Amino acid sequence: MTFQVLISDPLNEDGIKPLIDADHIEVHMLTNLSKAELLERIPEYDALIVRSQTKVTEDVIEKGERLKVIGRAGVGVDNIDLDAATERGIVVVNSPDGNTNSAAEHTMAMLMALARNIPQAHASIKNHNWDRKSFVGVELKDKILGIIGLGRIGTEVAYRARGQRLKVIAYDPYLTEEKAKQLGVQYGTLDDVLRKSDFITIHTPLLKETRHILSAGAFRKMKDGVQILNCARGGLIDEDALYRAIKSKKVRGAALDVFEEEPVKNYKLLDLPEVIATPHLGASTVEAQENVAVDVSYDVIRILNGGLPQNP
Ligand code: NAD
Ligand code: MLT
Repeated sequence: MTFQVLISDPLNEDGIKPLIDADHIEVHMLTNLSKAELLERIPEYDALIVRSQTKVTEDVIEKGERLKVIGRAGVGVDNIDLDAATERGIVVVNSPDGNTNSAAEHTMAMLMALARNIPQAHASIKNHNWDRKSFVGVELKDKILGIIGLGRIGTEVAYRARGQRLKVIAYDPYLTEEKAKQLGVQYGTLDDVLRKSDFITIHTPLLKETRHILSAGAFRKMKDGVQILNCARGGLIDEDALYRAIKSKKVRGAALDVFEEEPVKNYKLLDLPEVIATPHLGASTVEAQENVAVDVSYDVIRILNGGLPQNP
């Protein structure tokens, strides 16, 4: 028997080599399928591998009569209906740490770009303007970076931030005072982080409990002139509330890699000069893309061969 594997988002070709070389597995890379096309093709497949673009909704899972495994080449599984998959006995695997380093580095790049207005100054000089007055930034040294979600990426950001001589305060329901001490960060409640920080970066998954964790109420608690980063998931920030907080000058600036709707259709927030952004590039490095593709490839092979996944 030959197992059929559908890869429906672009994946690193070297990373999927184990899958391509595996016995009894045939791989089809069909990216940019419409929802209707995906629904039509999915009954042929034993495995589906996605990044964040394909939405693996209940109807896709229902139609996937042969599906045994869904692989997410990345961390967040919020684009997969986990309840529907579990109900059908389909295993969902991801790559929990294949892109940790890249996401942390991207967050630091955004933090520095935000503090020093680098994207705005770059656009200005490329437009043949010599303007040194409009782009006065702030130093990071001795500022307080608040981290919401001190998991894999949040922890790597904390290490790097200390290297920039920032003071770090973190909130995570699983963080203990002892662990915080070991990591060299201050242990705080969510309120502490909101009230004390000069910069706030979020690194939680998107869950019912974390949706709009940065809401209008949260912005009200923050220091005047706070700067906000989101390189985790759109939906963690209430974008309308952020827009209003920037317009009222409560928030000095924001650096966003992820959005409530992707690709972005409503550019109201992005059109603000105080907002710098990238189109969900946190994991877009050669290394991370190879790592995540390798991780899910091996897990998909294991499951199709009746074994257990490493990253369920
Ligand atoms: P992780 O599971 O290692 O860490 C997440 C942390 O969030 C955990 O420690 C958890 O306890 C904490 N958390 C959960 N609920 C919380 C709450 N209500 N308040 C505070 N903390 C809470 O995950 P990770 O690998 O660090 O990834 C974090 C996020 O980054 C995920 O959403 C992931 O999808 C996203 N991500 C984005 C990119 C990108 O391209 N921009 C790349 C990689 C990961
Ligand atoms: C992830 O959750 O791993 C990120 O969103 C990265 C990605 O899928 O590109």
